[in-house]
Amino acid sequence: MSLALYPGSFDPVTNGHLDIIVRAAAIFEHLLVAVMQNPRKSALFSAEERVALLRRVTRDIPNVEIDTSPILLAEYAAGRGARVLVKGLRAVSDFELEFQMALLNRKLNPQLDTVFLTTGETHQYLSSSIVKEIGSLGGDISYFVPPEICDDVTRKLKK
Ligand code: PNS
Repeated sequence: MSLALYPGSFDPVTNGHLDIIVRAAAIFEHLLVAVMQNPRKSALFSAEERVALLRRVTRDIPNVEIDTSPILLAEYAAGRGARVLVKGLRAVSDFELEFQMALLNRKLNPQLDTVFLTTGETHQYLSSSIVKEIGSLGGDISYFVPPEICDDVTRKLKK
């Protein structure tokens, strides 16, 4: 069975992430979306909140599973039997870090390869950080996050 793992911070999940999830779920039999820790970013939403938001926006996609783990991605992938990582690329600026992470993950787990999917062009400029910045300053984020979580994310950002 073809299993792919889409890791990320998802703080919070955006329409850009959902676009990648839908594309990857159409390619792979089972897509595991995992909220992982990124020590380079401080998260606003707890891992449990991010998992709950992801579950809500993917509930109609039967082959998607949501999970979270605090360990190294390479180890988590090995434990789950995943040999393919899915990453979304928005622009060339994403490439350098993603390329580095792909090579490091394969060094740590030689079974693990990374495939890159390009986001739809309407999501090129989107990031969780920019959604948090706009929302925390009272801006309308309804264009950037899925409708079923928009009110909850807006409320959290305004706190
Ligand atoms: O959405 P992000 O923040 O760009 O995702 C980055 C993430 C969470 C995938 C990355 O930081 C990660 O893999 N974290 C888990 C810990 C780990 O394995 N770090 C080494 C990566 S080479």
